[in-house]
Order: sequence, then C-alpha cells, then structure tokens
Amino acid sequence: MNDLFIELRHITKRFPGVVANDGVDLAVRTGEIHAIVGENGAGKSTLMRILYGLYQPDQGDIAVKGQTAVIDSPRRALELGIGMVHQHFMLIPVFTVAENVILGSEPASGLGRLRMREARQRVADLCRQYGFILDPGAEVGALSVGEQQRVEIIKVLYRGAELLILDEPTAVLVPQEVEELFHNLRRLKEQGKTIIFISHKLDEVLAISDQVTVLRHGRVVGTVPAARTTKAQLAEMMVGRPVLLELEHPSVTPGQVRLEARRLRVPGGGKRLAVREVSLAVRAGEVYGVAGVEGNGQTELVEALVGLRPIAGGQLLVDGRDVTHATARAIRLLGVAHIPEDRHRRGIALPMAVWENLILGHHTRDEFTHGALLDRPGIQGFVRRRVGDYDIRVADTDAPVLALSGGNQQKVVVAREFSFNPQVLVAAQPTRGLDIGATEFVMRQLLAARSSGMAVLLISANLEEVLSLSDRIAVMYGGEMVAEFARAEATPAELGLYMTGTKRKDEARAG
Ligand SMILES: Nc1ncnc2c1ncn2[C@@H]1O[C@H](COP(=O)(O)OP(=O)(O)OP(=O)(O)O)[C@@H](O)[C@H]1O
Ligand SMILES: [Mg+2]
Repeated sequence: MNDLFIELRHITKRFPGVVANDGVDLAVRTGEIHAIVGENGAGKSTLMRILYGLYQPDQGDIAVKGQTAVIDSPRRALELGIGMVHQHFMLIPVFTVAENVILGSEPASGLGRLRMREARQRVADLCRQYGFILDPGAEVGALSVGEQQRVEIIKVLYRGAELLILDEPTAVLVPQEVEELFHNLRRLKEQGKTIIFISHKLDEVLAISDQVTVLRHGRVVGTVPAARTTKAQLAEMMVGRPVLLELEHPSVTPGQVRLEARRLRVPGGGKRLAVREVSLAVRAGEVYGVAGVEGNGQTELVEALVGLRPIAGGQLLVDGRDVTHATARAIRLLGVAHIPEDRHRRGIALPMAVWENLILGHHTRDEFTHGALLDRPGIQGFVRRRVGDYDIRVADTDAPVLALSGGNQQKVVVAREFSFNPQVLVAAQPTRGLDIGATEFVMRQLLAARSSGMAVLLISANLEEVLSLSDRIAVMYGGEMVAEFARAEATPAELGLYMTGTKRKDEARAG
C-alpha cells in the first residue's frame, strides 16, 4: 500500500546564524527520479547529508518505507538501502575498478583470490544489469571523469543501495557524459531503483526527473511533476520572482594583445605533452572562448598561462613581456587574474575565514594595510561590498569558507578575482556549481569587464556559455587548438564535430 520510499517530516537543521533546513517535508516514491532544485545555499546538500546520516536534524523525523528510522551514520543509511554517490570521487587511482568497488565493504583481513574473483564477477554483473560501460579490470587512474563517476555509482549499488542520492553529478560532466549518465539512471529506474537528483541545470532536471521539489531559504516552495512544469516556472519558484535569462553582447572594438601564447608546449603527467604547440592571442576588450571536452589539455594550458605549471617550450607573453618562466605571483602582479576549475585545489583555503579568502594573495595591498598591520575597517568594508554585490550567502564572514554551500564558495573565488582590476582574466569553468541567478550575474560581470577593456580567456565545457559570451571561439582537442571561429560563424553542431575529434584540423571539409 505504502509506495513511499522515504518521507522527511518537518526536518529542521540549524548552523550558527542560519537555518539550513526549516521544517522541510519531502516524500519520495519508490522507483521515481526526484529532483531537488534551489538557489545556492537553499539547503539541498544539507538535507541530503541528513538523509545519508552525515548530519542529525535538530527537529523532525524520517520514515523509510513507512517505518520511522534514526539515521545516525552512513552505515545505517546503507543498511536502510540509502546510498550517496560522492561528488569528489574517493577512488584510488592505482587500483582496478573492481578493487575500488569492493574496497571498504569487505573485512580488512584477507581479500582472498577467490573472493576477488567473485567480486569482480559481481561488478561485471552489475554493469551488465544496468547497462554501464565499464571494464572491471581497468585501472581507475586511466578512466575519464564520467567513467569514474560510474565506478562510484556501481560502488553504491554493490553495497545494496535501493535509493541513490546524486548531488550535482553533472557539474563535472561534458554533454556526452551527461547523456550516458541519464541513460544509466533511466535503466536504474526501470529496475525499481529510486533516485534523488540535484542540479542547477533546469533542462537536465526536466529531462530526467519525474517530480521536482523546489527549496528556497531552507523551505519547500513546492513539489511539481516535471511533465507539468517549465524552466521559467521552476526558476521563478526558486528565486521568488520571474528570472530573465537574456544577455546582451554589445559590440566592442578589441584593443592590443594582452595575453599571448606562442607555440606553447606544456607537460602533463610524466613525459607526455598535455599541450602540444598552442598559439593564441587574447586582446583587450574581447572574450576568447576555448571549447572542448575536458581532459584535452585545457587544465594544463590554464595552469601554464598563470604560472602554476612549468612550460616546456614556446613563449608566454603578458602585455608584450616575456613571462614564460615567471612565477605565478609575478604573473598575478602583472594583472592576470585566475578563476580555477578546481576551487578546492587552487582557489580557496577551506579552513580559512570567508574574509581572508576574499583578499587571499592581495592582503599586502595598500588599501588593506596600515603600516605593518592589517587595516581591519578597510578590509571589513571591502568584504561587506563583495558579499553584497555577489550575494554570497554567509551569516558571518569570520566563519571558515568550508561552512559555505558549494555555489557560495565559487562566488568567493569569482568575487576576489574580479576585485583587483585585472587586465587579463583566465576563467576556467567560472559558473560551475552556480545557480541560475548567480550564473547570469557572473556572465554579466564577464561582459562588463570585456567592455571596460579586460582581456578574457574563457575555458568552459559548457558550450552554451562559450557561445553566448565569446567573440572568438577555439576548440581544443588532443592538446591542440583544432579550429577557430568568429562568433558569428560558430554553431554548436560544428563545434561539436571538432570537440569530439570527428573533424580534425588538417582535414579537408569534403568527405
Ligand atoms: N557545516 C556547516 N557549517 C555551517 N554552515 C553550514 C554548514 N553546511 C552548510 N551550511 C550552511 O547551510 C546553508 C545551506 O547550505 P547547503 O550546502 O545545504 O546549500 P545548497 O542548497 O546545497 O547550495 P549549493 O547549490 O550552493 O550547493 C548555507 O547557508 C550554508 O552556509
Ligand atoms: Mg550543495
């Protein structure tokens, strides 16, 4: 009779200065894909952590299949059939897929050869059952991001999960991988699994889910069937007012070349070259977009451009000055800002306060110092303005950045990098994890910076973003720029052919 898998009743969770979940009711039926959407900081991840036993609610209770349950650890959650797919993959690169899957769910003592064989067989069976393309014997370190995510999903299934929680699983995926993931999720659903799916991309939400629950400021605004709603309606429920998603791209006459790479060669891991002879020139007042499937050398290229990775050959110039072998600090001092693709590794210091992160690397500037001391009031004013302008949702800027929601951490990085009048901005996946309002805001900031003469290099796996912002668009594939288009000439279909390697640089158009 009862077809509800889980029922959350009046869940409340408070953190210092903020009510992350405020009397949340949520019912998820067995066998459905239930999306949860909401602005950055709305309380989505907190709610999922409660369901997975990582946090305890201050009030409210949870019923699993009609029975009230106390979920005091992830282990207990798994016993109840609730599994969470990790966003930051926790896989061991030198182990095989099968080894990673069984790791941790076996007694620490002796993984006998026989058990290992059985385990590998079960992993292969799971892959077959759910249509996952994955070789159980492959080494995880050699897998793409999409494949590693598949391993995480299989891992959760191996542990007996019937309900899978996926918190922004598509943020790290390219469009083709999203398709593959959705294919897998549909298969899981057909076989009776229940899925909770979180995403900021409303097209995805509408494409994959049965029901959509909208959270705003920790409260449920409503639950609607995906088939009977629209992007505009969801956006309005999330934000509380109608949201326009239109950007103007005024014409700007570009000025001199600010950032230039000449036949740049950059090593990857080991002896392999990740970037093989890339030349590009970004001028003042233009956005130069680099499209491409991740893992084609973009990461290494960006790191080389900002001085974080040694350059093996070629030349790097900022405003005509040779900085091929300059340090990251020297390059930053020439006015080059950097929004990194991996904010946890390169962009912020998680245990440090929000205010410290907002001036990180700039704390010695005149406006922040008073003789040898930090100018507290000056810094406070600066921090208050950033928090206001970027709508960074934080109760107390003395709190560590790790207490912020994922999207709000990203806003801290973006706010800082825009703050010190950079001449050049190297922006890698700048809107990753941001909600629609914040995405729009950052895109407007990028265009405003361009109008005021900044040279912007935009690296993004999001084709829509590249197309709507860029003046020129290059496609990176296999460590090279294989095509370059003027804004008016670029179409998603044509870019896609180069991104997937279907069309190559030297190939004639015919054939
Ligand atoms: N460990 C924590 N300590 C203090 N505050 C926290 C903690 N975790 C979350 N919060 C706060 O709870 C609120 C909800 O955060 P949560 O991470 O659930 O948001 P979210 O909806 O997942 O946002 P995003 O889309 O940015 O990921 C935020 O105000 C956040 O700052
Ligand atoms: Mg979150």
